[in-house]
Amino acid sequence: MALPRQVRIVEVGPRDGLQNEPEAISTATKLELIDRLGAAGLTHIEAASFVSPKWVPQMADHREVMSGLARRPGVTYAALTPNLKGLDAALECAVEEVAVFGAASEAFSQKNINCSIAESLQRFAPVLERAKAANVRVRGYVSCVLGCPYEGEIAPDRVAEVAKALYEMGCYEVSLGDTIGTGTPLKAKRMLEAVSRGIPRDKLAAHFHDTYGQALANLYAVLEEGIAVIDSSVAGLGGCPYAKGASGNVASEDVVYLLDGLGIESGIDLDTLAKTGTWITQTIGRPNRSKVGVAIAAR
Ligand code: HMG
Ligand code: MG
Repeated sequence: MALPRQVRIVEVGPRDGLQNEPEAISTATKLELIDRLGAAGLTHIEAASFVSPKWVPQMADHREVMSGLARRPGVTYAALTPNLKGLDAALECAVEEVAVFGAASEAFSQKNINCSIAESLQRFAPVLERAKAANVRVRGYVSCVLGCPYEGEIAPDRVAEVAKALYEMGCYEVSLGDTIGTGTPLKAKRMLEAVSRGIPRDKLAAHFHDTYGQALANLYAVLEEGIAVIDSSVAGLGGCPYAKGASGNVASEDVVYLLDGLGIESGIDLDTLAKTGTWITQTIGRPNRSKVGVAIAAR
């Protein structure tokens, strides 16, 4: 299959990137980060997570973030909502898109959202219904699509089953998460093959973490297979609190550099994005995990 001409990047840095940071990051810093990402040309930014503050303290200011956004026209600001409580709070803050997040691994589902896969799907159904009634789009995530920190290997059919359930429930797009970044290109292709038997490829997104340094290779593999939506995080920030040792998402700067080199349009200004990566890592005292970001800063 030919490479796509255009790719939409979903920037998850303000949520996936920051959720695991142990020191409290101010709401003002989060809002500035989101605004700078919009200025770099990102049109889809995951801004907050309406989860329990006991489970993920860093996302406790979700209301302040969501209501404090300097919304740019043409930019979608999304938030995670695992249940109706989260959705209702997000709706009060005029959210325009939410995401539910399930897993292809039973053990991970229990650790991450405190319920089985089947229970999670039951919980998501009313979230989708209420969101639809409010004209809010819902994205679905499947975690552990290329491996689980507790169960190890995950069968592609298992991923396909959960992804299809989310799609049939009404998620407009299903994002496939290599939560612990253990995947390799062949595995990624096989998983995608199984999932795309039940869901059109233009309704799927790749959400790869870079723990083992394979994320860009995996992305290239799935770009060749018709995937045209990529989740990434500025400066490669991040990690999941319920996946020990998992590092950040693939860095947005690295993805944009790859896409630019392939002649694939993303609409993102790499220099502005790289400056944002330098700024946020300096502000929160973290290393910049984008090779491209580091190289640009050293010019
Ligand atoms: P639970 O304890 O089973 O829920 O947690 P509960 O309904 O029994 O409620 C317990 C308490 O939480 C109550 O408070 C509720 O009010 C409160 P208490 O009475 O004890 O004071 N609560 C909430 N508070 C705020 N917002 C809410 C909410 N819901 C309940 N929405 C729950 C279930 C899902 C809430 C919990 O397990 C949770 O918050 N988990 C979040 C885990 C998380 O955020 N993980 C990271 C995101 S997923 C990820 O990173 C992967 C991804 O990037 C893709 C990939 O890489 O694979 C998406
Ligand atoms: Mg993630």
